Formats: sequence, C-alpha cells, structure tokens
Amino acid sequence: MPAPPDDANSQLATVTAVIDSGDDGVLLEVETEQAYPALNAGRFFMLRRGDDVGPLIPRPFSLFKQRGARLEFLIKVIGAGTHALAEAAVGSEMRLIGPLGNGWPSLVPDKHLVMLAGGIGSAPFYLAIKQLLAEGLSAGSMTLIYGAATRGMLYDLAAFEELGVRVLPTTDDGSLGFRGHVIGCLEEEWQAERIPRDCQLQACGPEPMLIAAERLAAVNELPAWLSLESYMGCGVGICNGCVVPTREDGPLSAWPNAKCCVEGPVFDSRAISLAH
Ligand SMILES: Cc1cc2nc3c(=O)[nH]c(=O)nc-3n(C[C@H](O)[C@H](O)[C@H](O)COP(=O)(O)OP(=O)(O)OC[C@H]3O[C@@H](n4cnc5c(N)ncnc54)[C@H](O)[C@@H]3O)c2cc1C
Ligand code: FES
Repeated sequence: MPAPPDDANSQLATVTAVIDSGDDGVLLEVETEQAYPALNAGRFFMLRRGDDVGPLIPRPFSLFKQRGARLEFLIKVIGAGTHALAEAAVGSEMRLIGPLGNGWPSLVPDKHLVMLAGGIGSAPFYLAIKQLLAEGLSAGSMTLIYGAATRGMLYDLAAFEELGVRVLPTTDDGSLGFRGHVIGCLEEEWQAERIPRDCQLQACGPEPMLIAAERLAAVNELPAWLSLESYMGCGVGICNGCVVPTREDGPLSAWPNAKCCVEGPVFDSRAISLAH
C-alpha cells in the first residue's frame, strides 16, 4: 500500500512574512525549526495555524520557494482554511506536515518542455524551473505558459519572468498577454513554430485545464504530467479523501483509483482518467 514519504514529518514553524499577491492571494513565508534538505519541486505540505484558528484539518499547498529553513507558499484565498492562513500574524506558529507527494519526475531528454500553469497552479513551477536551470537545462529549452482569468490572478508573475525562461501570460479577459486559455496559446505557438510540436508537457491548474491538457497530450502523443489540486483530508494516505480514477491499461499499477496525496500529486497523463 502506498505510504507517505520517509522524509515527511510534522513540525511547528514561525510565520516570517505574509505578503499580498495579486487580487486574492498571499505569499506566506515560514521558518521551520529543523531545516529541510533541498526539496524536489512539485512536492507539497499540509498547513494549518498553530493557534487552531481556522479549520483543524490542514490544507495542502505546493512548495513555492525554499531557502534553507525558509519555505514560501503562494496561496489563493478562497475559503475558511486559506483565509485563516492569510490572516496569520508574523511571529505566530504554523503547523506543517511534509514534505509530501512525489514532485515532478525526470524529463524526457531533448524535448522542449512546456509548462502549463492555471492561476495558482503556477506555484509548483517556480522551483521546478530553478532546479532545471541549476541542473544545466538551457533557458531556451522550456516555456512557461501562465494563464488566469485576469491579470490580477497571475500571482507573482514577475518572479517567474526573472528566472530568464520564456513566460507567456494568458488571460481570459485579454487584460495581459494572449487572450484566451493556455491551450489556445500553445496551439498558436505551435502554429507559428515558436514551440516545437514534439514537446513534453507539465500542467497544474483547475481541473478543466488539466482535462484539456490530458486530451491535447493524447491526441498529439506527447509525454505529459499533470499535478492535481484534489481535495485532501489527511495528506498521508489514510482518509481516502483524495482518490483519483486511474486507467486500467495505464502505466500506474493502482487501479481503479490512486490516492493523490501519496501516489501523486503528479501523475503521468496516461495513468489517470479526469474526464469522468
Ligand atoms: C497537492 C496540492 C497542492 C496545492 N497547492 C496549492 C498552492 O500552492 N496554492 C493554493 O492556493 N492552493 C493550492 N492547492 C489547493 C488548496 O489546497 C485549496 O485551495 C485549499 O485547500 C482550500 O482551502 P479553504 O479552506 O480555503 O477552502 P474550502 O473552504 O475548503 O473551500 C472553499 C471553496 O473552494 C472549493 N475548493 C476547495 N479546495 C478545492 C480544490 N482543491 N479544488 C477545487 N475547488 C476547491 C470548495 O468546494 C469551496 O467551494 C493545492 C492542492 C493540492 C492537493
Ligand atoms: S488526503 Fe487522505 S488519503 Fe489522501
């Protein structure tokens, strides 16, 4: 049975900064008592306030940035849990369980990488790009297509642009960049031969975007990985709150379901069945 990762633990951290980001987000920075080693991009932590204000069930968040014992999370405020986190005071305690999940897998060599980010789904890509650049992948061999409903939901866009890779913002309302969604932008880039058609995809964002990415990958026979933002209860494989339907003929041995928290959150697009 899939189990939580060996390096996961539960510890109290101190909130060191809470900074507004975009129209409805915050950048939450915490400092942990024990530093974690450099963590793979795409992994996540379960967070809740140490003073028990807000829901007792922690909420999952991708690791956005890491500097030693300082961890940053990019959080879109939508409900009780994220409101409580956004209102945490500097100096207060935060309970962290993690690092959890698998993170992004190794890339297929010599194929351009297209990262498709939808809104707050951009969070796991910052560290991914940094790590790929540090491993020697050239900035020209990857493109981030970062979409949202409107420009105010392109959280910390400047930080992504500063990484030096090509970043293509898209907005549904045309307030910045390409007007439309990330898939439309990729298709336009293919048409203009600015991105090779024979590329590989990584995607994180709302489910309709992931379903569209899954279809695009299937039709064009592209390697693709999807990072899911499923509902989670425990984050460690106990509650079954995060099950994802799998394909019987897919590359994952788990069938008919996988647990997103311990077998994901990143899945090969051929392994899961989102459009159910
Ligand atoms: C692995 C993983 C990584 C994530 N990383 C991030 C991140 O980096 N930043 C970030 O802001 N969020 C991230 N999320 C999503 C985040 O966990 C949820 O937004 C959060 O749990 C909402 O908690 P809440 O108490 O504020 O909302 P709730 O009160 O629980 O819900 C408020 C409303 O939002 C809806 N909702 C809640 N969670 C989700 C969801 N996962 N998908 C769709 N609708 C939902 C509910 O149905 C409800 O309508 C991640 C999720 C996963 C599984
Ligand atoms: S969140 Fe509990 S099993 Fe995955």
